[in-house]
Amino acid sequence: MCGIVGYIGNNDSKEILLKGLERLEYRGYDSAGVALLDEEGVHVFKEKGRIATLRKIVDKNTHAPVGIGHTRWATHGVPNRVNAHPHQSASGRFTLVHNGVIENYEQLKREYLPAHSFTSDTDTEVIVQLVEKFVNEGKSVEEAFRTALRALKGSYAIALLDNENKDVIYVAKNKSPLLVGVADDCNVVASDAMAMLQVTDQFVELMDQEMVIVTKEDITIKDLKGNLIQRRPFTAEIDASDIEKGTYPHYMLKEIDEQPFVIRRIIQEYQDENGNLKLDDSIREAMKDTDRIYIVACGTSYHAGLVGKQFIEKLSNIPVEVHIASEFVYNMPLLSQKPLFIFISQSGETADSRAVLVAVKKLGYRALTLTNVPGSTLSREADYTLPLYAGPEIAVASTKAYTAQMAVLAILAVDTARAKGISLDFDPIQELSIAANAMEVLCDSKEEMEKIAGEFLIHRNAFFLGRGLDFYVCLEGALKLKEISYIQAEGFAGGELKHGPIALIETDTPVIALATQAALNLNIRGNVKEVVARGANPCIISMKGLEHEGDRFVIPAVHELLTPLVSVVPLQLISYYAALHRGCDVDKPRNLAKSVTVE
Ligand code: G6P
Repeated sequence: MCGIVGYIGNNDSKEILLKGLERLEYRGYDSAGVALLDEEGVHVFKEKGRIATLRKIVDKNTHAPVGIGHTRWATHGVPNRVNAHPHQSASGRFTLVHNGVIENYEQLKREYLPAHSFTSDTDTEVIVQLVEKFVNEGKSVEEAFRTALRALKGSYAIALLDNENKDVIYVAKNKSPLLVGVADDCNVVASDAMAMLQVTDQFVELMDQEMVIVTKEDITIKDLKGNLIQRRPFTAEIDASDIEKGTYPHYMLKEIDEQPFVIRRIIQEYQDENGNLKLDDSIREAMKDTDRIYIVACGTSYHAGLVGKQFIEKLSNIPVEVHIASEFVYNMPLLSQKPLFIFISQSGETADSRAVLVAVKKLGYRALTLTNVPGSTLSREADYTLPLYAGPEIAVASTKAYTAQMAVLAILAVDTARAKGISLDFDPIQELSIAANAMEVLCDSKEEMEKIAGEFLIHRNAFFLGRGLDFYVCLEGALKLKEISYIQAEGFAGGELKHGPIALIETDTPVIALATQAALNLNIRGNVKEVVARGANPCIISMKGLEHEGDRFVIPAVHELLTPLVSVVPLQLISYYAALHRGCDVDKPRNLAKSVTVE
């Protein structure tokens, strides 16, 4: 994880770097730092905490045309000033920021630097000390950097400054994302284009095991043997206004509100002028040709995968397994004859999912990625991509990407059904539009959601109960609540509760139950009665047509298969208000990061 930025040009780099880091805070925010290089040499400012804290300590009088910066999500060493990046070589000549994990850092220390005393607990520091060691042994800086990179095992996006050459930033990438931005009077480096949109929309993508020599006029890409690589920039198609909060107090609330529009955009993007679904033939063929689909994902995307399994199995009649990436990679199940892998990832950079992708590609299997970031690693390395069209999601807790994932999975399932000649008894596009309208109604019910949060989510714990599709939404609802409010929340299948978890029910324990599935309506209500009999305080959210007296909230009626897109909205909103009431940092919850690029 972590985010890095760099600037080299004619202007003062300070503000550009700090603004860039603010936009990368979704990647981690436990400590941060910048190194500014001017005529006097390098000035390092770093501190535990957010960019706002870093801002306060950066010397306003330092005006440097070159600089690098870092926002951290700690992996090796606690978040403190010493472990914060940038890190410097023993003599202070070299200064470096790094995103990723160096797996063999202890071995490198033993092998190359046995006598060196390291100042931090990080895996990163070894890189900068190695560069200096190789330079001291007589190598040019470029060759020393390359030699150090060749010794590293693991993931890295690196930017390196040399105090004795103020005209260059050395950059390298392996597994962690990194882009070099090009502009007329400067060049920049960033983990994500969003960080440098203020400077340019022209970016050059880097591949694994490449390094770049960045000057203010030029960029030179090389492989780790020193061979030159030519690559043209692409235009980053991100609307700068998409990454601003506007009048919203939090990105999360803005992103919840954007969901109906995202669904409508998905309908538009995946439909041609004749109303036919618009998917690549190659994806259609891969779906038709497989005998079993393996969905692999993490966190919220995994929850979307659980719903996607239902769409694909019920509509297109293909068996689907859904797996947590971090488990799958070390414990691969027996695979079918013709497996197709579907990776679901908002960021397209999640290291756990990527590890599975690399493993299954090695075995020669085909992979399709659903991601919000076309051009991301998981998109590039899979055979096919389906974009989510959700627009940048900034809040750490995923909302609109989740509903977009489910909508795209529904479209994929419908398209496959049609390709296989299975006739459906409903118009999926019309049903998705109805779902989008229902989401809008729910987004307009914020006052009610705030009241529900105030009534129910005031304890240390909360339970979410559901059956069928509602169960998967409950898992997501519980994840949302714990992520941002730190209330211990669990989602349970209604019928499973009595096999253990019911022991946790006490007087006033909040139990939020979803009732949107006609065939299971009486069953879930029976389960609610069981917890009420043990003192629980129930909050039933049902769907129009299935409501009973005493239900706390009724969502508009939508097609039964699409209920997860809609029933999750009240759960997102009540989590938001619960977090707000508890004074939590909604957009940047403690210990989390949005893009998890370490395994
Ligand atoms: C992190 C985020 C979650 C997200 C998960 C998967 O844990 O905090 O919100 O669901 O990563 O991310 P992805 O980008 O692969 O969907």
